[in-house]
Amino acid sequence: MTRPDLARWNARFDTDDYLFGEAPNAFLRTQAAALAPGRALCVADGEGRSGVWLAEQGWEVVSLDFSDVAQRKAAALAARRGVSLDLVLADVHAWDYPPAAFDLVVDIFSQFSTPADRLLKWDGMVRALKPGGWLVLQGYTPDQLRHRTGGPSDPTHLYTEDLLRSAFAMLDQPRIIEEELTLHEGAGHRGMSAVIGLAARRGL
Ligand SMILES: C[S@@+](CC[C@H](N)C(=O)[O-])C[C@H]1O[C@@H](n2cnc3c(N)ncnc32)[C@H](O)[C@@H]1O
Repeated sequence: MTRPDLARWNARFDTDDYLFGEAPNAFLRTQAAALAPGRALCVADGEGRSGVWLAEQGWEVVSLDFSDVAQRKAAALAARRGVSLDLVLADVHAWDYPPAAFDLVVDIFSQFSTPADRLLKWDGMVRALKPGGWLVLQGYTPDQLRHRTGGPSDPTHLYTEDLLRSAFAMLDQPRIIEEELTLHEGAGHRGMSAVIGLAARRGL
């Protein structure tokens, strides 16, 4: 099967620099800081900046992505930091998400999914949460189309509060934070940006 999207991501990652930087996403950092480490799944983790940071905090991390080029860089970053990641090379829309397996599921800027694929992915992610486990997600809102500092240009790939509330209505204690801020995430996400984050918990 030809995967033009995979070839495009591999070409973007084929550089010595880390396209989205080596520091973890700031929203993840704030939301995960208070959680006791356990098993974490980082969906579309790319070059591993979030997975590696979680591993440094004591989490056992599965880092899922379909780009072998990104995963080689994730492994190198983990080695430099003295931690390890369980790298899984797979399509996030087709992966067989193990049920009730993770205390934390992380989804940072995976807005490549069409609305139909997004449902498959999010259904798998929720299934993979243990009872009491947390989902932490961040993406761009439609206001990002004014900034053009990263993210997709197709409005159906962007997130609104209503979309997130309805998609994750089965989860408890939702915290939704929508903000405009300056991102410094490598060359890929740089400058004034309109983002929305969700943290929510699967019921016990
Ligand atoms: C915008 S990057 C974000 C990477 C990472 N979450 C971060 O914030 O640094 C999107 C990531 O999704 C991956 N990706 C795109 N489509 C995918 C798919 N169908 N299955 C798995 N990974 C995919 C790309 O390889 C890339 O690493």
